[in-house]
Amino acid sequence: MNVPIAHFNGKLLPLDQIHVSPLDRGFIFGDGVYEVIPVYNGAALRAREHFERLQRSMDEIELRNPHGVDEWIAATEALLEHHPGNQSVYIQVTRGAPPKRDHVIPKGLEPTVFMMCYPLASPSRESIENGVACVTARDFRWEKCHIKSTSLLGNVLARQISAEAGATETILIRNGMLTEASASNVFIVKNGVVAAPPRDNLILLGITYDLLVRLSEEGSVRLEIRPVSEAQLRDADEVWLTSSTKEVLAVTKLDGEPVGGGKPGAVFRRMHALYQEHKAKLASSRAVAA
Ligand code: PDD
Repeated sequence: MNVPIAHFNGKLLPLDQIHVSPLDRGFIFGDGVYEVIPVYNGAALRAREHFERLQRSMDEIELRNPHGVDEWIAATEALLEHHPGNQSVYIQVTRGAPPKRDHVIPKGLEPTVFMMCYPLASPSRESIENGVACVTARDFRWEKCHIKSTSLLGNVLARQISAEAGATETILIRNGMLTEASASNVFIVKNGVVAAPPRDNLILLGITYDLLVRLSEEGSVRLEIRPVSEAQLRDADEVWLTSSTKEVLAVTKLDGEPVGGGKPGAVFRRMHALYQEHKAKLASSRAVAA
């Protein structure tokens, strides 16, 4: 079997030849940050924005970034030469491997950089046309959800709640307010107006979230960024999930109850079309540049 090529500390290697120290702080403490970038036919969607967010995550945890954005993009392109078609690029930087386990952040450690690709699992036609089911749960994660940290136990346990219920996502509520879902942002629509929870420390500010804000402006869809209560979530005409891999998906069942009419709504269909147009433009601009 062909072993996929991955990137490890500046080198391209078969995945099975990459070995990480058991003392790596990513392994011991989950002390690292990551990104996931969708790639459509070789064209990475919003790579610059992803690497800018990686920088912000690293700044938040005082981790030195071994590369500038242009170097990261070059490394991504080199890796993508081995992975044609639609891909997810996963990038992880940990604080590196010190000689001993100690919570205190050591000085002068070389970060560990790992990048891999795997085929992009785009939403199925069925889920676009009929929407998906979600459940809600209390947001029991920490207060620095804006950092895209590899310490994902809270998100993993949250996601497991929906997995066990046979649902696509777990939508999280903190002190009566909607935050996000275990691996996606959440938008609601009421009376034709889209609402997105504020860009604060209680959510990961999605690259897709920002793209939807931009597309709504360009496409004259009314969108407000404001706190959304649990009651407003349950009373919404439409609920959407967004992420780099899910794109934008309608939630048509929440905790077993239909959302709005139980079918993806008109505002969703408009936003989904705007998103697909944006992707198509990206692919054609790349074809011209190539
Ligand atoms: N997850 N919120 C959380 C908690 C997430 O994990 C993600 C993405 C998002 C959406 O962010 P973006 O639009 O930049 O993908 C919001 C990725 C895809 C993951 O962990 O696999």
